[in-house]
Amino acid sequence: MEKRSVTVAAVDVEALEREAQGAIAAASTRAALDEARIRYLGRRSELKQALRGVRDRESGMALNAVRERLEAAIDAREAELELTELKRLDEALDVTLPGAPLRRGHLHPLTQIIREVEDIFLGLGYEIVDSREVETVWHNFDALNQPLTHPSRSHRDTFYIDAETLLRAHTSTGQIRTMETRRPPLYIATIGRVYRRDTPSPRSTPNFHQVEALAVDREITLADLKGTLMHFVRAMFGEDRQVRVRTNYFPFTEPSVEFDVTCFLCGGTGCVFCRYSGWFEMGGAGVVDPAVFENVGYDPEEWSGFAWGLGIDRIAAQRHGIPDIRMFWENDLRVLEQF
Ligand code: PHE
Repeated sequence: MEKRSVTVAAVDVEALEREAQGAIAAASTRAALDEARIRYLGRRSELKQALRGVRDRESGMALNAVRERLEAAIDAREAELELTELKRLDEALDVTLPGAPLRRGHLHPLTQIIREVEDIFLGLGYEIVDSREVETVWHNFDALNQPLTHPSRSHRDTFYIDAETLLRAHTSTGQIRTMETRRPPLYIATIGRVYRRDTPSPRSTPNFHQVEALAVDREITLADLKGTLMHFVRAMFGEDRQVRVRTNYFPFTEPSVEFDVTCFLCGGTGCVFCRYSGWFEMGGAGVVDPAVFENVGYDPEEWSGFAWGLGIDRIAAQRHGIPDIRMFWENDLRVLEQF
């Protein structure tokens, strides 16, 4: 492009433009470019001062043309610098490389089962209540009508902290805790850890989980218990499961039963998993003993109820076909990640 040499207010515009273009081309960083912009186009630059002093049209046009060319040069240089910067980043960082996989955790299989159990009870209109793991002998045994001679009271079976305090051996303590503070009707379930001095084996660990259900209302019978149990088992294991009830003894229920569920693996025909019986022992249940109601201040003439309890770890083992419940406690990710 042809340029005309103009001298305005003693400024050699041509020399000024050459100098400015040189500085712009030489700017190798954005900061340097900014400096050049301020120096040649800023408010106090020679060019701006000349523009302010201009009186004739021709000089004004010439100066403005220089200003425009310098602005365009700065913009172009800026784009160039940006591109160089991007290229440098691009070389340092290969955005097409696959990212490092984020390892996502999930709930422990026992927690998953606990949540499911809670959902089933909530669906039945039960309330989930919390109870404590460190308990009094009263809540774990006495209030539950446990005879003083009962073997489970011994130091060999139960973890005592002192003569009055222990780690609860079952969630039936939650029945007492709830009834002591509330009036019937009650439909509650309590879930948590329990402790027994058992030798670890594929079928038992000294620390495991139980769920306890308690219903107290008027005219509750064994039939209500069986109906609730059937519903629970089928919701948990599937519609085709059968429940078998056998008579048993618990100090806090009368009558008392033990209940079994058909084996998840063979469906009841008998296999290694169920030791060829076709059944799995799930837990204990019964109609609340009047002595228990008396211990918590309920009138046994007015109120009746049922209770049942079962081991969560066993349910989880059954559900997943795990042959050894100790696996739930070993925290071996190779096992846990499968569920
Ligand atoms: N607490 C009993 C146990 O741990 C189970 C049970 C609960 C039995 C409620 C009857 C009623 O074996």
